[in-house]
Amino acid sequence: MDKLDIKLWSLAAKGQIVPDRSLLKTPEQIEAIKKSADLNTAVLDHIATHIHAGMSTAEIDKLVYDFTTEHGGIPAPLNYEGFPKSVCTSINNVICHGIPDENEILIEGDIINVDVSTILNGYYSDASRMFTIGKVSPKAEKIVRVTKECVELGLKAAKPWGHLGDIAYAINTHARANGYSVVEDIGGHGIGLEFHEDPFVSYVTPKGSEMVLVPGMMFTIEPMINEGSPDFYIDEDNGWTVYTEDDGLSAQVEYMVLITETGVEVLTK
Ligand code: MF3
Ligand code: CO
Repeated sequence: MDKLDIKLWSLAAKGQIVPDRSLLKTPEQIEAIKKSADLNTAVLDHIATHIHAGMSTAEIDKLVYDFTTEHGGIPAPLNYEGFPKSVCTSINNVICHGIPDENEILIEGDIINVDVSTILNGYYSDASRMFTIGKVSPKAEKIVRVTKECVELGLKAAKPWGHLGDIAYAINTHARANGYSVVEDIGGHGIGLEFHEDPFVSYVTPKGSEMVLVPGMMFTIEPMINEGSPDFYIDEDNGWTVYTEDDGLSAQVEYMVLITETGVEVLTK
């Protein structure tokens, strides 16, 4: 047992949820995962310069596939549990896991989340951004802005030896103050050596609850914010696409973060 083991053990003895040592990345792993995250960011930057009204979401998929593979990576969503494409594209009332389609054309006024995940040399990264297509309505502009603010506030609330619930509380409080709701059953996840590792990251849990944030932990902050009800349903035909139950707008921003000795580092900005 080293010092860290003793600290984790004593927290666990007090009833705290602590990560398994296998969830704490080594300096070598962190370096390799950062390279994956850098490519993931470059893919999102590439989409940012090419996204426009009139293009199909299948074209976004092709941009992601081509750019990623040309840079030595593999799009993590492709064939992941049967997912058929390289990226998730979620427009307006789609909460997440939208499947790119050549018949789905971006039009002025749309808001779209492009969720990119990359495997580079076996290491995983994951991040998403919102894009607004041309001029969008004030309510669309607002949910995109507030969602970004939620993630920034979540980030500020993340401290080593704090709790995942601190992040959730900051996010949920800001969303609710703006009249929005946070989706409950779909959340973030550990990442790095696998696409989805422990812990599951909720954005509705109370301050001081859930897993202790230990240096070396890596996970996503990716709340899904709904204009109306947090309820959703999943497309019966494709088994993936998640829609708002009430047809309201939904937005999401995803960062991948590392807890350090002194704070939190965003790996996908
Ligand atoms: N990036 C999504 C996430 O945060 C990936 C969903 S799985 C996929 O978990 F197969 F749809 F890509
Ligand atoms: Co994710």
